[in-house]
Amino acid sequence: MAVVVSQLIQALEPSATLAMAAKAKELKAAGRTIYDLSLGEPDFATPEHICEAAIDAMRKGHTHYTVASGIPELKRAVVRQYHERYGLEYPPENVVISNGAKHAIHNVFACLLNPGDEMIIPAPYWVSYAELVKLTGAVPVVVNTPQSNGFKLTAEAFRAAITPKTKALLLCSPSNPTGTMYSKEELQALADVILDTDLAVVADEIYDRLVYTDRPYASFPTVRPGLKDRTVIVNGVSKTYAMTGWRIGWAIAPNKAFAKAMGDLQSQETSNPCSISQHAAIAAIQGPQDCVETMRQEFDKRRRYVASRLEAIAGLSCPTMEGAFYAFVNLTQHLGKTYAGVRVDHDTQWCLELLGQKGVASVMGSAFGAPGYVRFSFATSMENLAAAMDAIEEFINSAE
Ligand SMILES: Cc1ncc(COP(=O)(O)O)c(C=O)c1O
Repeated sequence: MAVVVSQLIQALEPSATLAMAAKAKELKAAGRTIYDLSLGEPDFATPEHICEAAIDAMRKGHTHYTVASGIPELKRAVVRQYHERYGLEYPPENVVISNGAKHAIHNVFACLLNPGDEMIIPAPYWVSYAELVKLTGAVPVVVNTPQSNGFKLTAEAFRAAITPKTKALLLCSPSNPTGTMYSKEELQALADVILDTDLAVVADEIYDRLVYTDRPYASFPTVRPGLKDRTVIVNGVSKTYAMTGWRIGWAIAPNKAFAKAMGDLQSQETSNPCSISQHAAIAAIQGPQDCVETMRQEFDKRRRYVASRLEAIAGLSCPTMEGAFYAFVNLTQHLGKTYAGVRVDHDTQWCLELLGQKGVASVMGSAFGAPGYVRFSFATSMENLAAAMDAIEEFINSAE
């Protein structure tokens, strides 16, 4: 056979959420009502002034190739925003605009990692990190973190995972899937390890604007002097401005050479990100920010509701949700039981039975490297959340 899948791609894990998505689709097609708590995107419409900016961009003829690494106005808007919010100063040339934050992460990994290098990824983790590391020929080193610590990596666990092959640490705060956020002090403890070594950090800050605590968000390079040179920041408009479909994210590199490498890579792989979306992203970043606060407040209301409902169900536990829009719930007390005659031992089975028996779609913890857990997204209406929480409670109470 001539057309054979390469070893690198054969090693990719197919998405563990596919079985759930397929079953949800099948049930919907059969006329069942499905409450979808598996979503990883805001359910709000993109704010009107952003859509208007896109229409305006099209009318003005911004419908052609742009510089591969993104238009200078958007890069300037990105660095201005990071300066205003976190006091960090970068030249616009250090920014590469990509087709969503996921693409930015791919660019960072591809430019940072050599085959055989190790990247430390705290678990539970967002699924794509490990797979994107593998695509470079490097090795994801997964370090489990305990629920008792809010699923956050400690300096001790981090230090213990470092080997001569370690190249970098991946940090995601607030976290998908756990909904927890590192405090400044916790980041400083990790930073001290970093500064003792020559490791780099990839800081995925995509949920930095969806924070529900009074503690201010700490962008990683700000927590200790010297970190800025070691850190590549990833962020984007997807979650903050309800713009997942527009596909605009970015990486901010510590130096121009690294940014140039990412731009060169992108120029060969995808050319520029969508010209129209780039103009929409400028409007998002530079326009009125009250839409961000309105969405954040609505997420916060839902978060409180979901937390109160989960608390009332015996045997479930979940760390306080401080950011993003996920509850990461410990199911272990409800496994090894029988639900409507079906014995359920594993989180994947639990999620499939919850979907089949009660019509609630969720994502199994195993998909995030954390068997025994389930992720519920609260990026859906209060009405759906109320119906879903009733159904989850009934499902759990039915277990024998
Ligand atoms: C932690 C994290 N990083 C990055 C992304 C990717 O965002 P984008 O849609 O901009 O590619 C997601 C999306 O789910 C995410 O949860």
